[in-house]
Amino acid sequence: MGGASMKSLLMLLLSSSFFFSLVVARNQHALEEAIPNHYHNLQTTSFLPSSICTLSTKGDRKRGTLEVVHKHGPCSTFSKDMVKPLAVEDILSHDQDRVESIRSRLTITTDGKRDIRGSKATLPAKSGSTIGSGNYIVTVGLGTPKKDLSLIFDTGSDLTWTQCQPCARSCYAQQETIFAPSSSTTYSNISCSASECSGLTSATGNKPGCSASSSACIYGIQYGDQSFSVGFFAKDKLTLTSKDVINDFYFGCGQNNQGLFGGAAGLLGLGRDKLSIVSQSTREYGKVFSYCLPSRASYTGYLTFGKDRAASNAKYTPFSSSKGSSFYGLELQAIFVGGSKLAISPTVFSSSGMIIDSGTVITRLPPTAYSALSKAFRSQMTKYTLTKPLSILDTCYDFSKTTTVTIPVISMLWGGNIKVDIAAQGTLYANGIDQVCLAFAGNGDDSDIGIFGNVQQKTLGVVYDLPAGKVGFAPGGCA
Ligand SMILES: *[C@@H]1O[C@H](CO)[C@@H](O)[C@H](O)[C@H]1NC(C)=O
Repeated sequence: MGGASMKSLLMLLLSSSFFFSLVVARNQHALEEAIPNHYHNLQTTSFLPSSICTLSTKGDRKRGTLEVVHKHGPCSTFSKDMVKPLAVEDILSHDQDRVESIRSRLTITTDGKRDIRGSKATLPAKSGSTIGSGNYIVTVGLGTPKKDLSLIFDTGSDLTWTQCQPCARSCYAQQETIFAPSSSTTYSNISCSASECSGLTSATGNKPGCSASSSACIYGIQYGDQSFSVGFFAKDKLTLTSKDVINDFYFGCGQNNQGLFGGAAGLLGLGRDKLSIVSQSTREYGKVFSYCLPSRASYTGYLTFGKDRAASNAKYTPFSSSKGSSFYGLELQAIFVGGSKLAISPTVFSSSGMIIDSGTVITRLPPTAYSALSKAFRSQMTKYTLTKPLSILDTCYDFSKTTTVTIPVISMLWGGNIKVDIAAQGTLYANGIDQVCLAFAGNGDDSDIGIFGNVQQKTLGVVYDLPAGKVGFAPGGCA
């Protein structure tokens, strides 16, 4: 090869590699502009609690819409003496109780399918679900004249109940005055022979009792170790908004109540069973409801009923089958971190199964999936200082020396090829700026059911369309 051709070859190589690098740089730039959402940039001050309540501007305030507030946030009207905010460790340990009781409700039947509670003879000792502590509340009106009551909203159970006077055995302290059936002109007890009374068996996991003196139907529901409510099964008028009234709403009028309900008057059951508010309002709302959980305890979200209120930008994934009579099952197919799909065999997800639950705080994954997730997350977070674990959360960072952080976006790929990005506030769980953790946890075993928890649902409009058998996720549902 002559000197001249060598030189021109060199020139060509140099210029082409120069040109090539230019193209790469331009493509990179275009890529980042076109897909800017592989990373979240956030201020570390956003991990500090705020004392000011900011009302949601999104979400429709019209028919059937209730405001959702975090029990411990500044938007809650609960006094701080009534509801002592729990330490983060306590919240996470109660969360684990709830997960374990959900698991015990999903007993494995002999044919290998998961089913709720199994037969009556094989009732697990710990049936019912622990309420947990990361819960959200809504305020509804009960009776005539209506009495406002703040209830924990729970997609993982069915029976709605509230503490009732005269609290024959026991009532825990609640923020509002306790509902007095004798002051409501529309209240009535349900008789033991009513079909709704026998419906309690599937709604609560316990056979109803019958009062000997008045043949009034008696319900009992327990939620894990110490929480329970027992009382008269009753019906009364339920007022969601001035225009949204459900007459003859069946609920538990609790005479003996105990547990971790922290000042709330009771619970609003949004499960799939026929006694849930979703089923009881079929005529009014056609078994469609949606909610948005706010990104911070200082913001409000919404809970709304009816198809016409559902977010129009929701992407839908079908319910998976056989997850008990209360729970909403989903099919997780893959997880992405910073735009890259994790190498997890789809059978890991299909053999564990998954439910979506408004009352579980932290998303639980099969350990095989969680370890791949935390490894990928850590590998993109190497410039930050790892710190000690926080209860069930093992990937925690100390952000006290930085004002902004960049974290990879985590996305869930659901059945039907629906990719849903998790919000920044749904990715991390903070115990102060010096301990901010990846808000996912591994189950004990790959066969344990996965749970899509409420931290990861933050800011998503979540639509439950029961007749169509699907759940929708809409980004930017609330702040
Ligand atoms: C409901 O039943 C209880 C127990 O028998 C009774 O004390 C109460 O008065 C009944 N309420 C009504 C409105 O019938």
